[in-house]
Amino acid sequence: MTYDLGKKWKKDYSMDSTLKKEASTMDYKVELLTGIRPTGDLTVANYLGAVAPIVELQTQGVSPVVFVADLHAITDNEPDTVRQYIHGVVADYIALGVDPQKAKIYLQSDIAGEVTTLTAILSRLVSVAELLRVPTLKDKLKNNARPETANALLLLYPVLMAADILLNRAKRVPVGEDQLAHMEVTRLLARRFNKKYGEIFPIPQVLQVKSLRILALRGKGKMSKSNPGGAIFLTDDLKTVANKIKAAETAFEGVMNEKLESHILIAKGLAKTQSERDEVDAVIQEHKSGKPVMGQFKQILTRIVQNFLSEFQEKRAEILHDPSYISSALEEGAKVARENAIETLSEVRKVLRFD
Ligand code: TYM
Repeated sequence: MTYDLGKKWKKDYSMDSTLKKEASTMDYKVELLTGIRPTGDLTVANYLGAVAPIVELQTQGVSPVVFVADLHAITDNEPDTVRQYIHGVVADYIALGVDPQKAKIYLQSDIAGEVTTLTAILSRLVSVAELLRVPTLKDKLKNNARPETANALLLLYPVLMAADILLNRAKRVPVGEDQLAHMEVTRLLARRFNKKYGEIFPIPQVLQVKSLRILALRGKGKMSKSNPGGAIFLTDDLKTVANKIKAAETAFEGVMNEKLESHILIAKGLAKTQSERDEVDAVIQEHKSGKPVMGQFKQILTRIVQNFLSEFQEKRAEILHDPSYISSALEEGAKVARENAIETLSEVRKVLRFD
């Protein structure tokens, strides 16, 4: 994957081999961190890209920190709209397997002062021209509008994300492929800061080795909330899911394409048992050998997704039934996030002589 970030960015990107050395001189505070914007119901792509790796590592004893990125969400949504999704995202995290006994869940705006202060400090280390070249900016703009026409918060979006990660001094950040450019900006800012002011920020890493990009079931591009017909929402009812999968694009017999690869990722990622995953492999083998089995594959996919969703939706409804459970999880999370943020920011201010 190459990003068109210009020579300077590429040079920083290639510094990856020094990561170990850089990391060892500074302490990480949070082993695993990720955030999701409260801009609507989540899709299975959000789960597979960001939450599934967290849940997996949590079962191995890692204590993750996850948050609801409401400041990022207001880049292109009104705060009233954003507010109505916040509790839903917390319920999503928990119903998907983030365990508040082991993990911390916080609301980004509960540490708004620290996040925005660090955003301001980091913004001094990157030029407007560089931010205009971040490839995700173009994707966010409607009708191929020019990057220069973006609202200024959209321009600062990657810096705000860097502030989240660096305040927490996070080690590993699970994100889908669409966020990789933002991770590069984060690492670049950390290196620039460390070089100029002293070693404060350990360099964060993207968790996935092979980046994950779930495509829309049909039509162009990745699966996203903005193309509802091609997305499986975690809140979709089972009939809707069956219809969406029925209408999904697949591949001619014997042919593998990106779409089918993505459907397979969904099937295997949501399957609860090894025998379901074997079933997927078997039907795909038949497909590869030229048999017309896409109808059968769609049936298996539908069953897997429906099982996953019905279990999830039951848990989610239970959690949402008790708003005090969600509020107390957020309170707990805010305490830890605040502690980390205050500690990091005071060190930053000290080396910057801005205290
Ligand atoms: P957001 O809310 O757009 O998406 C949440 C997570 O879902 C992943 N994702 C996908 N993964 C694979 N295939 C897809 N089609 C797909 N669509 C979405 C995203 O990559 C993301 O991991 N900027 C972040 C929120 C954020 C953040 C952070 C994340 C703010 N600060 C600090 C990590 C660390 C975002 O827009 O996520």
